[in-house]
Amino acid sequence: MGNQWKHAFVFHLFIFFFLLTGVQLVQSSSHHHHHRLLSKLFVFGDSYADTGNNQKSTSRSWKVPYGTTFPGEPAGRFSDGRVLTDYVASFLGIETPVAYRWREVEADRMRYGINFAFGGTGVFDTVVPPDPNVTMTKQIDFFQQLIDDGVYSKSDLDSSVALISLAGNDYTTYVAMNGSAEGFSTFTASVINQLAINLKRIHGMGVKKFAVIAIPPFGCLPQATILSSYQQCNETINKISIYHNLFLQEAVDKLNNENKGSTFIILDLYNAFISTFKRQKDHPGSMEFGNPLKPCCESINSKYLCGQTDENGVPMYTACENPKSAFFWDEVHLSQEGCLAVYSLLEDSLHQLYL
Ligand SMILES: *[C@@H]1O[C@H](CO)[C@@H](O)[C@H](O)[C@H]1NC(C)=O
Ligand SMILES: *[C@@H]1O[C@H](CO)[C@@H](O)[C@H](O)[C@H]1NC(C)=O
Ligand SMILES: *[C@@H]1O[C@H](CO)[C@@H](O)[C@H](O)[C@H]1NC(C)=O
Repeated sequence: MGNQWKHAFVFHLFIFFFLLTGVQLVQSSSHHHHHRLLSKLFVFGDSYADTGNNQKSTSRSWKVPYGTTFPGEPAGRFSDGRVLTDYVASFLGIETPVAYRWREVEADRMRYGINFAFGGTGVFDTVVPPDPNVTMTKQIDFFQQLIDDGVYSKSDLDSSVALISLAGNDYTTYVAMNGSAEGFSTFTASVINQLAINLKRIHGMGVKKFAVIAIPPFGCLPQATILSSYQQCNETINKISIYHNLFLQEAVDKLNNENKGSTFIILDLYNAFISTFKRQKDHPGSMEFGNPLKPCCESINSKYLCGQTDENGVPMYTACENPKSAFFWDEVHLSQEGCLAVYSLLEDSLHQLYL
């Protein structure tokens, strides 16, 4: 082999090696090949996590314009596209677990776990109940039944993560039922108490890793900011979220102390929302969202919501041209792009599941 060829050979070998290494780096960062495999995701909660559990005939998550970005048609998610569940699953390097209601239709996807979340669910009964009308307790009953039926083994549960998205609808209900300001701290205490009981119950079934969402700033949701033409968050309403999240942190700290060997982490949606708004404000024009408080899909009449039609089937909403430019999709839900922005701020916390 002449010198020239030798150099060329070594050079190509180097390139080849580099490419291989490059590929491996990309793989390990996208699939998170940590020392411990977490191969199943069990999801409990509400519309921030639901991927198709509500009835098609009654839920707007199954109506146009929901699902327009992904999968391209309404498919039971309360968004134009992907929701938190999808991003947490991809973080674990698995596909989105099957929605509980579709477990028999798509049985092969039960190997990624099950999504028991229903849009409208609360820790307690809510004024915006899902169809069927289930609480978090009922979602855990569904899980218990599958375990009793032998669908998941002890080792399956040992290598699984529970994602919990709850309590927003409980506060919506408290406010709608004209709950008093004085009664609020008692109510929060009872929500947190029941949530902790529920987490312990799932833990007792064999799940050891938990990601629990801290609720978003409710005063920043379009349903609240519409009063200021989407100009500012309502700090009075945000106090509800701050208060809940404070006590949630305390409850989660306690669970970690009482259960060495298990991990309970908080996914802080509150600060992820606020950081995204702040980043947008500090760098106007350079960021993806125009006014992050203005939703893509807006009703044109306060009697209706995004996705609803009048008795003649006429749409009572308008949807923006490009959902990617909106942080919020509708009155209360994130757009896919908004969810991705929030998820990117939660990734650091998710890594703690592997500790
Ligand atoms: C949902 O169930 C609870 C009791 O489990 C009941 O009090 C409530 O009225 C139900 N809501 C609807 C809309 O059926
Ligand atoms: C809500 O509660 C307040 C104070 O308890 C009371 O003054 C008010 O009339 C109530 N409103 C409704 C609609 O029940
Ligand atoms: C904030 O929300 C509270 C409670 O709903 C309401 O009374 C108040 O008028 C709101 N403030 C603004 C500026 O919208």
